Amino acid sequence: MQALIEAAVAVRARAYAPYSRFQVGAALRTHAGDIFAGCNVENAAYPQGLCAEAGAIAAMVAAGQTRIAEVVVCGAGALPVTPCGGCRQKLREFAGPEVPVYMVDDAGALVITRTLAALLPDSFGPDHLG
Ligand code: THU
Repeated sequence: MQALIEAAVAVRARAYAPYSRFQVGAALRTHAGDIFAGCNVENAAYPQGLCAEAGAIAAMVAAGQTRIAEVVVCGAGALPVTPCGGCRQKLREFAGPEVPVYMVDDAGALVITRTLAALLPDSFGPDHLG
């Protein structure tokens, strides 16, 4: 897990967040054992900004992988930086309910751990579409 945390901390430093000044890094490890990372990328047209998790997922899919084994989200502040609602759903597309999501602070210290099922109970997913 340490490599995953280090990837999230490192990519957070590259966040493009001139509007919120709130930098986020996300890293995920796939079932194949590879690590993909992403940072938030904001936009002058505010709603067009991208979350860190979305970037990490896009990198994973672009590399031909679709199964997430564990996730780290890295952010600063008094509260743990948890995935936003939209990102919980994005993760759910590629991660099972048991997948751990580790929230770490800007130094990489573990703050809280939740399963994806705890973050997104009774979730809607690909199975619903048959
Ligand atoms: N942000 C993320 O990148 N991931 C989350 O799950 C929470 C929010 C970003 C979006 C925006 O650029 C900034 O944090 C403030 O909301």
